[in-house]
Amino acid sequence: MASPKVVAITGGAGQIGYSILPRIAAGEVFGKETPVILKLLEIPVALESLEGVGMELEDCAFPLLEGIVCTDEPEVAFQDCDLVFLIGSKPRGPGMERKDLIQENGPIFTGQGAAIDKVAKKSVRTIVVGNPCNTNCLIAMHHAPSIPDENFSAMTQLDHNRAIAQLAVRAGVHFNEVKNPIIWGNHSNTQFPDWKHAMIQKKPAEEVIADEAWFKDVFIPTVQERGKAIIQARGKSSALSAANAAIDHAHTLFNGTPEGTWTSMAVKSDGSYGVPEGLICSFPVTCKGDGTWEIVQGLEFTTFGREKFDLSIHELEEERETVKGLL
Ligand code: NAD
Ligand code: LMR
Repeated sequence: MASPKVVAITGGAGQIGYSILPRIAAGEVFGKETPVILKLLEIPVALESLEGVGMELEDCAFPLLEGIVCTDEPEVAFQDCDLVFLIGSKPRGPGMERKDLIQENGPIFTGQGAAIDKVAKKSVRTIVVGNPCNTNCLIAMHHAPSIPDENFSAMTQLDHNRAIAQLAVRAGVHFNEVKNPIIWGNHSNTQFPDWKHAMIQKKPAEEVIADEAWFKDVFIPTVQERGKAIIQARGKSSALSAANAAIDHAHTLFNGTPEGTWTSMAVKSDGSYGVPEGLICSFPVTCKGDGTWEIVQGLEFTTFGREKFDLSIHELEEERETVKGLL
């Protein structure tokens, strides 16, 4: 057996927390040979509920689970962590956009970034899920100057998976047969879900689904607005699919992207594709499996696609301006 990995999850008593915790404890991120210690962070009023989640985790008697810590102190939660999921924050309700959460949620990520900086392993990987996740990731990263910026990422894996699902359903194939859509930009309704490089059964998606109007008028808005559609249907924001995407994101970081494929991840821009340096922007990335990622280079845009992506970049710049007091 390998030595245990220490994983912190904020918002452990929340919806996503409830869905993600058993999967981490079952070895879905680090594999069936690696024990895990779970550190769950909550706000004081949710501590009792968190204790209940801790009891349930104990009652699963997971073979790989070596310890559970429930706390309301960030420095206890993040101590010696290998991986942190920053989930704990307010979700949007009906009629809101994710960026409407920025004033309330943004400040959470200053203190949590600083606590990660102080007590986590310097090799820690931090995945930001709490919305608006790109800009919250920017804030957390900024407050953790001793941790490499590349160790921070925000989750657009859910949008990536939604794009795969929409293409598979439209083409009448299994999800496994769809590869390489791209989510460019922000985890918001300005994101550009790009099908131009996607493959279905090893053929270009746009040849298999030869219907430009469907891509532009159905595929793009469906992926962009899927979070809203789920809130309308459930009365609550996505949780099962969000937790699943967070597992996929972490699994990819620590296990790599399969040969010939990429995923979408919001990472710090190095200027690739004209995205201003430092913005946390979703790009196609490949991963080697050691926690690192690389932005896929050399992909081309149509004029239509470039205009869509630029809109989302502009929104990221606006969000950065809104939180400049937190940076
Ligand atoms: P939820 O309300 O069910 O749970 C959030 C939990 O976080 C609550 O238990 C709350 O007490 C806790 N919390 C609040 N502030 C905290 C803090 N400072 N420290 C620790 N815990 C804190 O919400 P949810 O459905 O689990 O969603 C959580 C976040 O994830 C929301 O911001 C939501 O919008 C976001 N989200 C992002 C994606 C994505 O694709 N990036 C997908 C789904 C949801
Ligand atoms: C999602 O994409 O489902 C989440 O970001 C929740 C939301 O507010 O849409």
